[in-house]
Amino acid sequence: MNRFVFIFVLLAGLFGNYAACAQEPIVIKFSHVVTSDAPKGKAAEYFKRLAEKSTQGKVRVEIYPNSVLYKDREELEALQLGAVQMLAPTMAKFGPLGIKDFEVFDLPYLFPNKEALRRVKHGPVGKMLLKKLQAKGLTGLAYWDNGFKVMSANRPLKMPEDFKGLRMRIQDSRVLDAQMRALGAIPEAMVFSDVYSALQKGVIDGTENPPSNLYTQRMHEVQKHVTVSNHGYLGYAVIVNTKFWNGLPAEIRDKLEEAMWETTLYADRIAEEENARALDAVKRSGKTQVHTLTPAEAAAWRARLLPVHAELETRIGKDTVNAVKREIR
Ligand code: LMR
Repeated sequence: MNRFVFIFVLLAGLFGNYAACAQEPIVIKFSHVVTSDAPKGKAAEYFKRLAEKSTQGKVRVEIYPNSVLYKDREELEALQLGAVQMLAPTMAKFGPLGIKDFEVFDLPYLFPNKEALRRVKHGPVGKMLLKKLQAKGLTGLAYWDNGFKVMSANRPLKMPEDFKGLRMRIQDSRVLDAQMRALGAIPEAMVFSDVYSALQKGVIDGTENPPSNLYTQRMHEVQKHVTVSNHGYLGYAVIVNTKFWNGLPAEIRDKLEEAMWETTLYADRIAEEENARALDAVKRSGKTQVHTLTPAEAAAWRARLLPVHAELETRIGKDTVNAVKREIR
């Protein structure tokens, strides 16, 4: 190779590298409503690290935790408008979008254990449900776990009668509304970021959360009683704006899908441990009495709550409810 050709090739290579480096990274704004040390917050950070590393910086993930950018009613609209590119709302939050099927995950006492839950999420039924998001300009990438919920209030909650007249905060889900009414409580749909102050001011009396959400939002400081009921499940659908996602270079999308799958395995792995750790911290705080339902008490809760399945199956979609229950068997 003569000297001029060598210099030309060298300069072209340098310019090429400069151009690539100078190329702006693709930005994924990831908004969510929990703290960075809650299970979903940790999973978002884990995804950020994997995505930026595997794309060699061609993608930058900007995480906006704890409702700093959008509260949980605004975030879905922001995603559809393309103001953010990724969310991980609970499956309880898709009803206002007109996707009622996801509320199947809110049905009380539906999942006997995490194995049954994972069969649904990672199997054909989970994939079928994510496909329903396409009609709303959204693409479902994965399900991330959190956990089974406990109840909290400023009075002991041992039997269904104890809920009578209590204003109980719920996510905006008709199944959760029916659940609280079945217990004789008054459901109050409220965005997650407002719950602590509403408890502190006495605007609401109680909540239901996985222990990790209760603890990371410091709700145990303003709730004298927690009942480990495990009466329902809270988990997440990780979703992106379809136009943004389909507009990505194929090799970038492939890398992000790999990062998402690795993060899903991580999220499912840490969820159980994080919730156990949070419940232990609540007990050790000395601020809240923690009660675990006796078998007789749990039987009374089930008897009161299981009729919610028949009451809401038409709204959710009988095919969806039956498909989920077939997977669980
Ligand atoms: C809630 O509103 O209770 C949950 O959606 C919070 C969360 O875990 O996203």
